[in-house]
Amino acid sequence: MDEREAKLRSSRRRMVLQAAIGTGIGLSLVSAFYVGASLRPKQEVTPEKEPPKTGDLLVFAQGGGEGKVITLDDLKPNAAPILAYPMDPSSKIVKSGEAKNTVLVGRFNPDELDEETRKYAAEGVVAYSAVCKHLGCIISQWKAVSGGGQEMLFCPCHGGAYDPRHAGRVVAGPPPKPVPFLPVKLEGGQVVVAGDFTDKVGVEASAQNCCRMA
Ligand code: FES
Repeated sequence: MDEREAKLRSSRRRMVLQAAIGTGIGLSLVSAFYVGASLRPKQEVTPEKEPPKTGDLLVFAQGGGEGKVITLDDLKPNAAPILAYPMDPSSKIVKSGEAKNTVLVGRFNPDELDEETRKYAAEGVVAYSAVCKHLGCIISQWKAVSGGGQEMLFCPCHGGAYDPRHAGRVVAGPPPKPVPFLPVKLEGGQVVVAGDFTDKVGVEASAQNCCRMA
């Protein structure tokens, strides 16, 4: 694949995400897109599809700042987490060619994080896979659920909610498991990947089997 085609594909993927995150319209499209992606045969792993690796920088995935490195100053404590992709710092290739590379980066008061979460966080900054463990939609909202006061990572497809202060545990809806961490560290104020995802990203086989239409 030449550079022009790679850019075109990356641009198309950003448009899908913007449609979903910016307006809520297109979420069913994203749902179908991600579930479909999980069922497709394995494809060639090109640089923009490689998984995150230690040392990658996290960059904005949407919102007008696409490709800009996320810094501590971009992250307001308890504000809605930012949708991000990893970027290879040498080649500057943004790894937006694989849906499973989409992550959410948030910042919290370190005292609010449980012990497990603190292991993978840096100064209260924590990153999780943005792919819902239920049927693979992007977790695109930040809101209080079930009458609780605190906002949670929320998947609008079927109301799945995850607590980012407590290891991404499921607090509402059908997801069968927490979303995995992407460990992070801070270098010069930039958010940097510090390890592999802590668990399989995306849909659990058990969830797929349970909810497939007859
Ligand atoms: S896909 Fe997220 S709750 Fe169903």
